[in-house]
Parts: sequence; C-alpha cells; structure tokens
Amino acid sequence: MPYVFDVYGTLLDVDSAARLAASEPGMEALAEIWPELAAKWRARQLNHSWLRTSMQQYINFWEITENALDVSLAEFGLNDTALRTRLLSLYTQLSAYDDATIALDRLIQNQQSCSVLSNGPPDMLEQALASSGMKSKFDHMLSVDSLQLYKPDPAVYRLVLDAYGCTAKDVTFFSSNHWDISGAGSFGFKTIWVNRAGQNWEGLPTPPTYEVTTLTEAIALM
Ligand code: LAC
Repeated sequence: MPYVFDVYGTLLDVDSAARLAASEPGMEALAEIWPELAAKWRARQLNHSWLRTSMQQYINFWEITENALDVSLAEFGLNDTALRTRLLSLYTQLSAYDDATIALDRLIQNQQSCSVLSNGPPDMLEQALASSGMKSKFDHMLSVDSLQLYKPDPAVYRLVLDAYGCTAKDVTFFSSNHWDISGAGSFGFKTIWVNRAGQNWEGLPTPPTYEVTTLTEAIALM
C-alpha cells in the first residue's frame, strides 16, 4: 500500500530559492520582488510542462525550469548572470517543509512504503532529495522523464503501478498541486490535497479524498 508524494511544492518549498537569494549580500535587486518572481517562475515552469506535453515537444524539467527563470527575470529587467546562477544553484537545494520531514519519518517508523512521483528528471530529483536529507526515505524516485511527458497525463501515474505491482486503489497520493490531485484521483488513486496555500478547489475532475494544510495533518488521518 504505497504512499506516493509529489516533490516540488509538496515536499520541497519552491519559493525557498528566491527567498534565500533575496537575503544574501549583493542580491538587493530581489528584496522587494522575490515573492512575485518566485510565483511567475513557478507558474511558467508548470505552464510550459503542460504546453510541451500537448505539443509533444519534451525537454526535461530542469531545462524548463531554466527557461522559465530566464523569461521571468527578463520580465523584471534583471539581466544578471550571477543572479541567475545563484537562483538555479539554490533550486538544486530547495528547503524541505518541516512537516514533510516529520510526516515521512512517522510513516517510515511504521514500516510504510514511500516513494516520490515527480516531473523532475532523475538527476534533478536525486540532487534535491539528497540535499534535503530525504532521499533515503524512498523506495523509488519515479520520474516522468522515462515517458517524456508531464503530469497530469495518466501514463505518469501508471509508473507507480509498474513500480509496486499494485492497483490504483492501493495507492495514496499526496500533492499540494490541485491539478496533480485531479490527475491522480482521476487515475484512481486515493488523494490527499496538501492545500498549503488555502486555495479553492477549481472544479477540475475528481476532488481530493481528503484536504489538509500540512503533511503532519495528513498523517494524523492515516
Ligand atoms: C512535481 C511538480 C509538479 O514535482 O511539482 O512533479
């Protein structure tokens, strides 16, 4: 009965790269705008993943992340190679949410099987999860890269069934991304929406089985 986690936004705080960079010396340009930059960077990253899947024009999630950053920096008139390099470097070592680490430790203490299923290619996932100290907690780091298409294509969720030899109803899937919850739920997974941002459900198919605000709250339900 695997517990499967989305990575970016669910286990790792995608805003932490811009937030940390903004606090560093020489990065005054980010002081005011980092939250907006982080939001645009993330929105473009996801948007490009969907557009590229629909166009069958795959490039990996790291390349999408670089491109999304370039366009977002340009929008703010920030043509600064050192800033770009620092932001990308911090993206390889995003902070884990405290509740993610606590929840995973609790599941593992109870001998539960945990894996990730992410848009990130294997080396990107490996680096980010090793840096946050979470890598050893997972049976599998499942990546869309082998399929060359992005969530929420149903083929992505099928990777979990292939890895565990289980059926969709055996899987509990956690994501902070409402569209990922919709995709996973439509595929047949039990879903836990970690609604960190307090968003409204947008009317996409298959609402979450449970909605929580943190992963520790989710684990209390298990
Ligand atoms: C992931 C993105 C969607 O980790 O956050 O798959």
